[in-house]
This record gives sequence, C-alpha cells and structure tokens, in this order.
Amino acid sequence: MRRKVTKAIFPVAGLGTRFLPATKSVPKEIMTLVDRPLIQYAIDEARAAGIKEFIFVTSRGKGALEDYFDHAPTLEQELRKKGKDQLLSILKDTNMDSGAIAYIRQHKALGLGHAVWCARRLIGNEPFAVILPDDVIAAEKPCLQQMVEAYEQTGGNMVAAMEVPASQASSYGVLDVEEDMGQMVKVRGMVEKPKAEEAPSNLAVIGRYILDPDVLRSLNQMKSGAGGEIQLTDAIAQEIGGDNGVYGYRFRGQRFDCGSKSGFLQATVSFGLAREELREDLLGFIRDAVRMENAAE
Ligand code: UTP
Repeated sequence: MRRKVTKAIFPVAGLGTRFLPATKSVPKEIMTLVDRPLIQYAIDEARAAGIKEFIFVTSRGKGALEDYFDHAPTLEQELRKKGKDQLLSILKDTNMDSGAIAYIRQHKALGLGHAVWCARRLIGNEPFAVILPDDVIAAEKPCLQQMVEAYEQTGGNMVAAMEVPASQASSYGVLDVEEDMGQMVKVRGMVEKPKAEEAPSNLAVIGRYILDPDVLRSLNQMKSGAGGEIQLTDAIAQEIGGDNGVYGYRFRGQRFDCGSKSGFLQATVSFGLAREELREDLLGFIRDAVRMENAAE
C-alpha cells in the first residue's frame, strides 16, 4: 500500500520584495483576496486533499501568520455575546488543532529548496506535499486533491504543470517531457528559469508538489543553483531515472500568480466576481471602467 500524503510544507520565508513597501510589515501570505488571506486558500486546499499536519517554514517578521492561526478568545467572546454566529463560523476555519501546525524558522532566505530542507526532521521518511501560497488556484476540485488522487496511481514525485508562452518560460522551472500521457507527463529533465530559446517544452512547474523523502536527502547535498539559491527543482531533478520517477500533472483550474502585482490584481477581480454578493457591483464597475478606457482611446 502506498503511504498517504498527510503532511504539507508551506514555505513562507521569502522576503516578498515585489510587494514592498506593503511587505515591510505585512507578510505577503497575509495579504487578502477579497476577505481572506492568501494562506487561508492554501490551508483550505491542503485540508481538502487530506493533509493533517501543516508545517510552515517562516522567517523574521512573519508573526502575523502565527497569530492568524491562533484562537482569538476576546474576539470570539465578543461575537458570541452579540449572537454573530455566522462570523464565528468564519473564524472557525482559521483555527488549527493543537499539534497540527508547526513553525520552523529559515534563518536566511537561501531559496525554496533550502526552505523545504529546513522542515526535513518534521517530515521524516514519508511522502509530503509542498504548497506555495502565492500560487492561488481556482478549481472545482482543489488542485492538490487532484494531484493526490493521481499520485495514488503513480507514486514517485509529482509537480503541478501548466502550459505557458515561450516568452514566460524564464520565470519558471520547465519540464523536459519523456512521455506525454495527457493529464500527466513523465519527466526526463527539469530546467530552472531557462532562456526562451532553451526551454525544453512549454510546460512550467507551479507551486504544488508531492515529493518523496529522497528529495530531502538530495537537498542535504545541494549547492546553490540558478540565481545563487538552493533550488527545489534541482533536487527533484535528481529523482529522474531513479526508482520513483517524476511526473508533471496538468491540473484543471486557473492559477493566479499572487506573488506578482498583476497576478494578485487579476485574482482579486476573479475571486470578487465569483462572490454572489459582490458580483453585480463589481461587474458594473468593470464595465464602466472599460467603457471609459475605450472612449479615451
Ligand atoms: P518567491 O520567488 O516568490 O520569493 O518565492 P519571495 O521572496 O516570496 O518574493 P519576491 O520575489 O521577493 O517578491 C516563492 C516561494 O518560496 C518561498 C517564498 O516564501 C514563496 O512562498 N521562499 C523563497 C522561502 O520560503 N525561502 C526562500 O529562501 C525563498
């Protein structure tokens, strides 16, 4: 029997420089899409996929994240007194069971691979998921759940993959495909941030992974890769051709790069439009804005 994936790492130790000055005092993961911080979307997705242990790799200045998952007795008491049951139930989603959540500190931002490696002792010898909260995915079935179901068939290592235009390949890890099986591809190589003309395919890796603990052992020996950082893709690439193999999974859903301003704004509009109580108002505003833009041209 394949071991179930019950642990997930959330690397949130990055500096978030693209959102300065906001991220000077607010962790990127606490920034909100409509009314929920990015991290809540990631946690909900993990829960839907059957994750029971949530491991955050944090850094200096991320205290707001830890507070977010704490109980808030005074606030809860106040809401209870006022009979605000609906708000109380919204707050409930933010509470984590004692012992289900752990925080590990990455002392220096040495890259995503290094951040994942920092959590090695909490993972031990079992498969685990990695979720990057700034990749937000709108999907009927949450992305990680789709991947866990596929992983039950394949085992090994699985990365979420998405088609991107060649001009954008240099922002991603890109898959070299050995065999294309439709929803899934078998991977023969991975290149981190290739030049457009050197990208082996248009399949880019985005922030969802299911990994074998062997990847942590590779990270033990890692030297820095592209951009002077310890790259997770380099460690996953070591698994290619081994017993486990690496698969790319074409998830069904729309991914927003909330680590970039443009992606964050697009997600805000899209998640706003998906909310019944906001839709009409927002749509009216967008129509007016487009009309004015067109008239000005
Ligand atoms: P990014 O490449 O988006 O970097 O990291 P960043 O620091 O968050 O943001 P910018 O580029 O300065 O604006 C991708 C993910 O990897 C985590 C980040 O927190 C984010 O979830 N990360 C990155 C770490 O945890 N540690 C690192 O050393 C680097």
